[in-house]
Amino acid sequence: MYEQVAHSLLNDILNQIKPEIHQQDLRHFYTRLGANFYAIHALFEKLYGDRDDFEQQAQTLVETMARQYIKRSDKLRQLDLARERDYNWFLSQKWVGMALYCNGFAGDLNGLRERLNYFQELGINLVHVMPIMPCPEGSSDGGYAVSDFREIDPQVGTLADLNALAAEMQARDILLVLDVVVNHTSNRHYWAEQAKAGNPVYQDYYYTFETRSVPDMFEQSMPEIFPENAPGNFTWDEEMGRWVMTVFNDYQWDLNYSNPAVFIEMLNIILFWANQGADILRLDAVAFLWKKIGSTCQNEREAHLILQLLKDCCQVTAPGVLFIAEAIVAPVEMIKYFGEDAVIAKECEIAYNATFMALMWDAVATKNARLLNQGIKSLPVKLERATWLNYIRCHDDIGLGFDDRDILLCDYQPAEHRKFLIDYFTGQFADSYARGLPFGQNDKTGDARISGSLASLVGLEYALEVGDDSAIDDAIKLILLLHGMIMSFGGIPLLYYGDALGTLNDDSYRTDPNKRGDTRWVHRPAIDWEIAARRNTPGCVEYKIFSALKRMIAVRKEISVFADFNNRELLEVENPHLFVFGRYNLNHQSGRVLVVANFNGKPQHLNLDDLGTWSSQQGQLVDLYRGTSPDLFKNSLVIPGFGFYWLGEK
Ligand code: GLC
Ligand code: GLC
Repeated sequence: MYEQVAHSLLNDILNQIKPEIHQQDLRHFYTRLGANFYAIHALFEKLYGDRDDFEQQAQTLVETMARQYIKRSDKLRQLDLARERDYNWFLSQKWVGMALYCNGFAGDLNGLRERLNYFQELGINLVHVMPIMPCPEGSSDGGYAVSDFREIDPQVGTLADLNALAAEMQARDILLVLDVVVNHTSNRHYWAEQAKAGNPVYQDYYYTFETRSVPDMFEQSMPEIFPENAPGNFTWDEEMGRWVMTVFNDYQWDLNYSNPAVFIEMLNIILFWANQGADILRLDAVAFLWKKIGSTCQNEREAHLILQLLKDCCQVTAPGVLFIAEAIVAPVEMIKYFGEDAVIAKECEIAYNATFMALMWDAVATKNARLLNQGIKSLPVKLERATWLNYIRCHDDIGLGFDDRDILLCDYQPAEHRKFLIDYFTGQFADSYARGLPFGQNDKTGDARISGSLASLVGLEYALEVGDDSAIDDAIKLILLLHGMIMSFGGIPLLYYGDALGTLNDDSYRTDPNKRGDTRWVHRPAIDWEIAARRNTPGCVEYKIFSALKRMIAVRKEISVFADFNNRELLEVENPHLFVFGRYNLNHQSGRVLVVANFNGKPQHLNLDDLGTWSSQQGQLVDLYRGTSPDLFKNSLVIPGFGFYWLGEK
């Protein structure tokens, strides 16, 4: 019954389709539209079916997809077909990513193109270029307050520069990841300017209110994201004479997705960037897409429907393009951004593994892996054909979003433990060499997060300053240990620019009035390429880190069980300092790899007999990363302080 409704609507739409669309060769487009339309209709109907103009909106939706398909280059269409055939392509262990600010990394887009050798030198073949669309000076939120979704910030280049970069990357088999900031716009975006000028069509693009009554209602259940700089979730706009919802900064206006016009605009923008040559699109702040009175306005079911609909539509026009969900939320919620299908991901193929990231930082501070083990044990198994982005640092703060139950199971008190972590990483705690800064401190809730570069957080800045060689060594070991984890856990490792060179905190933001209020700028550096050149000079810190990571990446790419097919088993061991898991082949026994990590500074031992089926390894163990045999005494494996092994069999 329902299918008939969808079919007859599709027939009506196709009958009325504009002649300029009709004349094109849309063979593949129609095949995909036919295959996906039942789902598209069901989702669109669920979200917008009660509107009088529903059919008109559905017509516009299909025409939007068709127009962008017509604009899609032959080269990209070929890539779409190839990826449809080889649909597990992105689960391979051969992908290793890096996220960067274009200006900080290389000045501008042309500079970035000239630096592509650097990625190949290290083994990086997926590059996330953080937002490069225009943002108002001084109210940019690091690129996430976009004032024009179809342009490039003139300070980093032009669309032609981006196309040239994309083409060159494609020729070198490097994937391009771009951001689409789907949840909000700058208050200086055309839509916002129109809304301010009193245009009701555009006021309906946002959540605007004449009085405080609805905002006050919302505020009762909405948390604050930037409590220091942007308390509350609504801002009075003098020009418009209305309140507007601003969950992040007061200059970032939340888009109203209960209006189908907003959905279609954003789909059109997503497809526009897909057509510029992006292989993957990072959808920003997706947990926030739907607002409901009485809720936290995060992770609402409709937010998922919107993402599923975006995915279904993108699969019709640009099926080779993947989505990354940026949803830094609790593990049980995070997992839902892959889709709620029983088997196959149908929302975003990739999601940030913020849980793993935060848990590793816990292990760094406590020097044991108790919470890490507990947290990973509680991490729900994800769907097939979905994968994690595993990362240590990114351009944002580190949130301590662990599950309180897990903290309690480790015999810590949640509030106390979080306070300890903040103290530890801000260097307040005795014995801590960390040089982090607090971010997002909320006096009402006692909440806080952490800013700081990887190197400064693990004590390298301190160690270099006091000239303590053994502390320098430890910091380097920690940097490698953490990378050893994201490279082997399952998923795409995403390095953060600067980290492969041991880049320290950048304090220059303190003197910039546009940045000093936001400590996240401390870890958004400009790469000094003279310092970076030391990566080729044996003995230098930069060399030690870079050359080790280069090797690690090369080795990872050769280990086929590191591909992500949910083929990981967490192994519970007695020694609380160790984090141990196995990676295996779903079809046979051979080639499996045992990963053993020691988060303590002192050497630790692991009795291999305790590892169940994993102990019955035949043959001699070899650490695949170093190419040497690990230290064994009888059947006890000895893992050096802050060391790790990728153990295979010879
Ligand atoms: C995302 C970005 C973050 C930004 C926020 C608001 O979380 O990663 O940098 O502040 O969205 O756009
Ligand atoms: C919040 C948001 C996350 C964003 C971060 C920026 O944690 O949930 O999306 O990255 O703020 O600080």
